[in-house]
Parts: sequence; C-alpha cells; structure tokens
Amino acid sequence: MREEKDERLEKELIKEAIRAKEFSYSPYSNFRVGAALLAKSGKIYTGCNIENAAYSPTNCAERTAVFKAVSEGEKEFVAIAVAGDGEDYLAPCGVCRQVLREFCDPDQFCVFMVGKGENCQKMTLGELLPAAFSKKDVKSK
Ligand code: THU
Repeated sequence: MREEKDERLEKELIKEAIRAKEFSYSPYSNFRVGAALLAKSGKIYTGCNIENAAYSPTNCAERTAVFKAVSEGEKEFVAIAVAGDGEDYLAPCGVCRQVLREFCDPDQFCVFMVGKGENCQKMTLGELLPAAFSKKDVKSK
C-alpha cells in the first residue's frame, strides 16, 4: 500500500517537473529546466530556471521551487524531481545541492533526475552531496 502511494507520488512529481519546464525563462542558454518539490505537508511546489542578461543572477529550477516553498512557510521536504531538455538525466548543480541540504535530510530526501521521456534516476541527497558543509558546522563555532 505504502509503496503504491510512493509510486503514484513519484510519477506525479515527475509529471509536475516536466510541466514546470514550460515556464522556463532561458533565452540565453535555451536549456529549459523544471522542478517539483514535495513538502512533508503533501503540497508540491514547482519551479523553473530563470535566466538574466547579467548571467550570474540566474536562478536554477530547483532553487526556485525551494525558495517558493520556504517563503510560504514550508521547511521540511520529502523529494524533488528535476527535468531538463537534454538527452541525459538532469543532475542538480552543486549550488542547488547545497540549498537542498539546508532543509532536507541527506539520508531520506530523494532526488528524481528525469531523463528522456519520463525515465528517471533516483539518488538520495547524501549520495549527491557527501561530506557536506551544513548548519551543524556553523553551530559548532
Ligand atoms: N540549471 C538548472 O535550472 N538546474 C540545474 O541543476 C542545472 C542548471 C539551469 C541554469 C541555466 O538556466 C541553464 O540550466 C543552463 O545552465
């Protein structure tokens, strides 16, 4: 039963990430990215990449989703799906991994990296960002 529910949620997250890609603002790279973040509350927050003429202010899809969620009071998350336009699975960039690490349990939080079609590769945040710098390091000062 639990597994069935997990599978349904996983499929829904992947669909939402692919859908979120439609809103991508990426006139410089022409590389669209969409993300769908599942909060512990059950709510899904979507995001897309938002580029900028000055390049460095560009925000990735994953961070857009996290910042939307946190700005609405969510601080605990279960999983994220990320979908790009490339042939290969889209792996979150290092900055997004670090932002996710602020709010997500590295051993529990799942990252679904969507490839061609709706195929996906699943990894935990801890696998993607081992030996991370995190709030525990700041607090130990
Ligand atoms: N991008 C994301 O949205 N997420 C990632 O994890 C990797 C990169 C975006 C940023 C930029 O708009 C485009 O993809 C090309 O790097």
